[in-house]
Amino acid sequence: MSTRKILVTSALPYANGSIHLGHMLEHIQTDIWARFQKARGHECYFVCADDAHGTPIMLKAQEQGITPEQMIARTQIEHEADFAGFGIDFDNYYSTHSDENREFASHIYTKLHDNGYIKRKTISQLFDPEKQMFLPDRFVKGDCPKCGALDQNGDSCDVCGATYSPTEVKNARSVVSGATPVLKDSEHYFFDLPAFSQMLQDWTRSGSLQEEMANKLQEWFKDGLQMWDISRDAPYFGFEIPGAPGKFFYVWLDAPIGYLASFKNLCDKTGIDFDSFWKLDSDAEVYHFIGKDIIYFHSLFWPAMLHGAGMRKPNAIFAHGFVTVNGAKMSKSRGTFIKARTYLDHLNPEYLRYYFASKLSSSIIDLDLNLDDFSQKVNADLVGKVVNIASRCASFITKRFDGSLSATVAEPALMTEFVNAGESIAESFENREFARAIRDIMTLADKANQYIDAKAPWVLVKDDSKQQEAHDVCSMGINLFRVLMHYLKPVLPLMAAETEAFLNSELNWSNYKLPLTNHAINPFKALMQRVDPVKINAMLEASKENLQQQTVTTDTTVGKTAKVEKASNTEREPISDTISIDDFAKIDLRVAKIIKASAVEGADKLVQLQLDIGGGETRQVFAGIKAAYSPEQLEGRLTVMVANLAPRKMRFGLSEGMVLAAGPGGSDLFILSPDEGAQPGMRVK
Ligand code: 2FM
Ligand code: ZN
Repeated sequence: MSTRKILVTSALPYANGSIHLGHMLEHIQTDIWARFQKARGHECYFVCADDAHGTPIMLKAQEQGITPEQMIARTQIEHEADFAGFGIDFDNYYSTHSDENREFASHIYTKLHDNGYIKRKTISQLFDPEKQMFLPDRFVKGDCPKCGALDQNGDSCDVCGATYSPTEVKNARSVVSGATPVLKDSEHYFFDLPAFSQMLQDWTRSGSLQEEMANKLQEWFKDGLQMWDISRDAPYFGFEIPGAPGKFFYVWLDAPIGYLASFKNLCDKTGIDFDSFWKLDSDAEVYHFIGKDIIYFHSLFWPAMLHGAGMRKPNAIFAHGFVTVNGAKMSKSRGTFIKARTYLDHLNPEYLRYYFASKLSSSIIDLDLNLDDFSQKVNADLVGKVVNIASRCASFITKRFDGSLSATVAEPALMTEFVNAGESIAESFENREFARAIRDIMTLADKANQYIDAKAPWVLVKDDSKQQEAHDVCSMGINLFRVLMHYLKPVLPLMAAETEAFLNSELNWSNYKLPLTNHAINPFKALMQRVDPVKINAMLEASKENLQQQTVTTDTTVGKTAKVEKASNTEREPISDTISIDDFAKIDLRVAKIIKASAVEGADKLVQLQLDIGGGETRQVFAGIKAAYSPEQLEGRLTVMVANLAPRKMRFGLSEGMVLAAGPGGSDLFILSPDEGAQPGMRVK
């Protein structure tokens, strides 16, 4: 096996928010892969950094009354501690706000500029006259230009699902100061992405991308690539563009360059040859692990920038799906928006490493952390199967056989089967088919337990004439356990280290085929406890508490690599003025039966409902409850609707009424249902 040179990265977390379980999926996936490559003897480096620039970071530092430098330094300490808590073994963790990154960003930009790929154009954008700054889309709020819904985001409407430009928003206001934004011109710098269209199409077809990603890219190519706006006006926390005073690189320009900067910093500290990894004809392999939300940046902008600057491109981009918890988007109010630190305060990090590994494949599909399944799997597989093998055999070795394994291998054929599985398990790890590797390892674990059940060493030890056999069987069990723990080592580094201490022997790919014979082991200590449901609940409760401490406006971590509901505003609406009984009587509230529910193409939040409202009458209603209910959950049930609401024309059709629901919004919405016995058409009084 020849030694490969491999550089891997995880996406750089923003420096203004905490690490959460969405980030952890990606870092655990990358870490397992990097540990596996290193264990196979390859020269593999895993680098990452904080993504430290941009408007949200600048504003959050202002909010806290500190400099952005102070804020990103504090955040980096927290991030590194969180990752360390999960055993993420970076070779280097750095920051995009570094000298190396400034140099690489300037160098790449200058090359692109000199090669004619930078264009300038004056554009008009919303400007906050009080704060004297241009407003990114998400810092504008106002009424939807399509349906008129109040207080919507600057780029999309939660009620009707429309997307639009912030300049179209009615009654726009700046989220930063509350001021009414004005339109203002400014010259921007653009990267000529369309010039790389052919190169990118070729690169896409060269096997660098997963199939789903390559298909997505075909759509983008079909729509035509756009010039990319890479400059932002002061005030901005970032790097000033060389030769353009007052203009800064947009955060996404220097973020991926941060991969180079972090690696360069590692090279300078350790003497690794940077150029041998990054020169054009390098034989080193470069892989970026990312979430599916940032494919565009990594599969279009980044390779185009590298190509335009005369540098090599990555070998592949490995995208993964989002994390959901208990089948729904991570929700702050339900306590399922779980920060890495909150998890670590309650649960063993290796539970999560194992659970994610047991569900990860090379595809982009979302991964559900179902907390019941999580406990069940960890308990059944790790505690019930793997650790059980050792715990059933170890105490006999210690108490009866002087702590030493026997001289013979009792079942050579079984041993060979375990050892020979190694290459196909390795292939699964190599191809990021971790779930398949885990399945194969657990099948072996079942076989080891069956072997021990059949031999029943606890019976053998009671019979003086069978002491040798008992010794051989227990030693065999320990050797089978050793092979399995060797395979699991990239996934469970802590448990593997404890196993090495117990076995008095390192687990590695050069010695795992040779069983330990006549070998002294140490007394066995429980290697893993069962998942305690009380701790899971405590973690969920603590996550709800986090919510109260959260500031809403500048949290950019939301939506990154995890499906997260938008943070709902924690301030309550004031209770409105009273209405008279006559006013109330005007509302025609009726029991309705949902006879049909279907998703609405092009609308993220809406479900289309056909309602039976009695007397043979049906109504069509578009309800913003998609995050909370799937259409199947709705069909056939009774609810309450406002039947005399003026019909509203929506992009998707006419909405003839409103279904009543309670809750803060997003997936925390509960439609109202009458008690049993109610019939469609009954008036609510
Ligand atoms: O989406 C994000 O969280 C970005 N901070 C990822 C940057 S990855 C790389 F390009 F730097
Ligand atoms: Zn709308």
